[in-house]
Amino acid sequence: MFKFQGADILSVNQFDHASIEYLFTIADTMQPYAHRKKRTRVLDGAILGNLFFEPSTRTRVSFGTAFNLLGGHVRETVGLSSSALAKGESLYDTARVLSSYSDIIAMRHPDSGSVAEFAEGSRVPVINGGDGANEHPTQALLDLYTISKEQSSHGKTIDGMHIAMVGDLKYGRTVHSLSKLLSLYKNIKFTFIAPDELAMPSYIIDIVDKAGHQYEITEQLEGNLDADIVYQTRIQQERFPSEEEANKYRGKFRLNQAIYTQHCKSNTVIMHPLPRDSRADANELDNDMNQNPNLAIFRQADNGVLVRMALFATTLGVESILKDHECDVIWHSQKANLGL
Ligand code: CP
Repeated sequence: MFKFQGADILSVNQFDHASIEYLFTIADTMQPYAHRKKRTRVLDGAILGNLFFEPSTRTRVSFGTAFNLLGGHVRETVGLSSSALAKGESLYDTARVLSSYSDIIAMRHPDSGSVAEFAEGSRVPVINGGDGANEHPTQALLDLYTISKEQSSHGKTIDGMHIAMVGDLKYGRTVHSLSKLLSLYKNIKFTFIAPDELAMPSYIIDIVDKAGHQYEITEQLEGNLDADIVYQTRIQQERFPSEEEANKYRGKFRLNQAIYTQHCKSNTVIMHPLPRDSRADANELDNDMNQNPNLAIFRQADNGVLVRMALFATTLGVESILKDHECDVIWHSQKANLGL
């Protein structure tokens, strides 16, 4: 099994089936803390260096929240232009310096391979929060955790499931990492729905194929959505050569309640790593699905905190002593008349 303590988390390639199941067991134990039933101060005094050199809402804030919920402190650097990287400092030098200020580092960067390069100079574990079009391992872990919970709520398992991945499968790093993780399970059926130009890269198809799973590649949305999970994605405009190029594909594969009713199964679960592009010319996942109980996107985002808490606890070696540092929550943060 993968040894989490002291490890960099750079790619889903590091994990085997047993390691993932172990991590998910730890994620389950984080629920009372994430849901503010109890507090733990197990990381009191520890510092997370949260370095985000590319835009982010969920990953950046949920890394910080996860660390805070374990009792640790968070120091953030946001944006390339506000760091010394903009003055030509190397990733190695930045890592040598910032890792002496931190106990663990989470990092997002626009270039593929950049987080691994940074990790070479770091004296503390580094967690990849997304490196260009390459990988987003923590997103894949939280996606898989969500799939496991959603499947279980319908009396099903990950083994034997059918997933349809939709949209920008070329530049969407989350679907690359998730396909690799799902390949560790048994008898999965993949339907890859994308324009030819944005098709799933062949090296990912090879991994799926070599692991013995069924797969279909199609440009057609209608008729291909009767899956257990439909995983919608955004056109990753920031990775295209130009905005005009991205505009050719924007809004091509929209999901809304009418399409769901016509083409999905009655309990097909809809996922999306978020952000969904809600502008009128894109709108890949319409707001008219917000009340559909099978829309799992916000449960998915919530699960990000649990999985990232589990990663911090395991890489820092405290997952077995959370309760020793437990205390009560003495405030009430629930809004009155909650309508959501
Ligand atoms: N899913 C995800 O990576 O979201 P952010 O870009 O907001 O971090």
